[in-house]
Amino acid sequence: MAIVSTFCKKGGVGKTTFIGYLGHFLAKQGKKVLIVSADDQNSIFKIFGADDKIFESDDNYLEFYIAGKAELGDLLIEVRENLYLIKTLNTDKLSMKLTFERAQEKKLKGMFAEYSEFFDYILIDFPPSSSRLTEILLEISDGVCIVVGLDTLGLGGFWNTIQYFIDNNLDIDSIKYIIPNGMAYNKRAPRVSLETLTQQVKEFTPNAKLLTPLQDRSIVKNIQANGWSAFDETPNMTKWDADNKKALEQELLDLYKSMGF
Ligand SMILES: Nc1ncnc2c1ncn2[C@@H]1O[C@H](COP(=O)(O)OP(=O)(O)OP(=O)(O)O)[C@@H](O)[C@H]1O
Ligand SMILES: [Mg+2]
Repeated sequence: MAIVSTFCKKGGVGKTTFIGYLGHFLAKQGKKVLIVSADDQNSIFKIFGADDKIFESDDNYLEFYIAGKAELGDLLIEVRENLYLIKTLNTDKLSMKLTFERAQEKKLKGMFAEYSEFFDYILIDFPPSSSRLTEILLEISDGVCIVVGLDTLGLGGFWNTIQYFIDNNLDIDSIKYIIPNGMAYNKRAPRVSLETLTQQVKEFTPNAKLLTPLQDRSIVKNIQANGWSAFDETPNMTKWDADNKKALEQELLDLYKSMGF
């Protein structure tokens, strides 16, 4: 079992999209996959068209388990075969509890230990903000993937992320992959950003692998609007969309291969 997570201090760079697609891919390989939303926006549900599940019940959030009001099995929400999600309700409040009550941290870590008996992979989707919850879950991640937007603000987000690891004594070597997102080979700005990022990775995270950049593809937003992941069968698509989705799938498969999945 491995805990893999996506993190970046900059919002809207593609963390949730990336971890959602990876989870679905692994589930389709027959692995049992759990994605925990450490982001109480729970946007991971949107990747699978399961927004309705976010507010469906009032006792199946992670916080209820920590408070002793729900069982482990109650939290799991199945969105695809072999693929389960866990949602959070109020991570600020949970982080307060984790800061002031040591027993809560033990309970949280125990929860991951128990789930790891059952799941082949536990993936964690982080929000761009940081909190005690973020710190603890980054600590228990075996591999952290930093998703970086290929523009000036995105590069700033990478730098902030490294600074955050240093300030909080988090292990920089737990950062296994840097995933640039939003590449357009016919545009100068993202290419220049990639060059700068390549230098920064060498300097600040020399043990992390800089992956081939993901391209900026409008199909990502199109399928997301329909509640489809990149690995769903999508009937009634125009040929244009179907071709673009195929290209997206191939790009992701190549990326996963380079990550050893
Ligand atoms: N390769 C891509 N090409 C085009 N659009 C993309 C790509 N990757 C992600 N997006 C879009 O960018 C938006 C933000 O993506 P996502 O929600 O995954 O980012 P995030 O980093 O998780 O955001 P947040 O910080 O709010 O959690 C979404 O609308 C998503 O569809
Ligand atoms: Mg997100």
